[in-house]
Amino acid sequence: MANYQIAPSILSADFAKLGDEVDNVLAAGADIVHFDVMDNHYVPNLTIGPLICEALRKHGVTAPIDVHMMVKPVDRIIPDFAAAGATYITFHPEASEHIDRSLQLIREQGCKSGLVFNPGTPLSYLDYVLDKVDMILIMSVNPGFGGQSFIPSAMEKLKICRRLIDDSGRDIRLEIDGGVKADNIAEIAAAGADTFVAGSGIFGKGRDDDPNRYDTIIGQMRAALAQV
Ligand code: DX5
Ligand code: ZN
Repeated sequence: MANYQIAPSILSADFAKLGDEVDNVLAAGADIVHFDVMDNHYVPNLTIGPLICEALRKHGVTAPIDVHMMVKPVDRIIPDFAAAGATYITFHPEASEHIDRSLQLIREQGCKSGLVFNPGTPLSYLDYVLDKVDMILIMSVNPGFGGQSFIPSAMEKLKICRRLIDDSGRDIRLEIDGGVKADNIAEIAAAGADTFVAGSGIFGKGRDDDPNRYDTIIGQMRAALAQV
């Protein structure tokens, strides 16, 4: 079976008890913590920054933290996230004047780098930088909010991207973000994704007083992936 990784987006977690939420979702079998950074400029919403990333590390989180930066500009804040314990740092190419430089900066800071593609953004931004990318993130919603519906054109984009990665022979993860649920994750995997962000699809499920709710939903996702 492919090396599938499930990355809960903490955007949909209960921020009043974030440390516990992250502990619980990791204990339930999640692989990566997806960390959505929004600046009320590149996207019309405002969320969390390096201080919260650092707080999760101090809390004892050792799993990879996947920092999805929906911010503009990007370069100034990269070293802050690296110092705060980010594992991956990804950004949107439209938000950087110098994509190659931003990708290099992420790696120089000791993190894994990635580019994020909005539903309307062409993959041609990858043409000359594939050697500097550890992750490609395909957005299946427009960025800014959790709980939106999966935009179907992302499937075709995933297939194209999967071919691109395989033809290159490079070790690049292919991540999908937006509207991922237990009932569409298999189809998304079949289109080529290997890393699955899910916010409302995980944190929005089950009853708050059910201690096993994350085990249940992540179990359903793994079971669906096992059929691919
Ligand atoms: C949207 C964020 C997503 C968001 C996904 O801008 O990048 O990570 O949390 O939420 P769901 O899984 O609810 O679509
Ligand atoms: Zn995200």
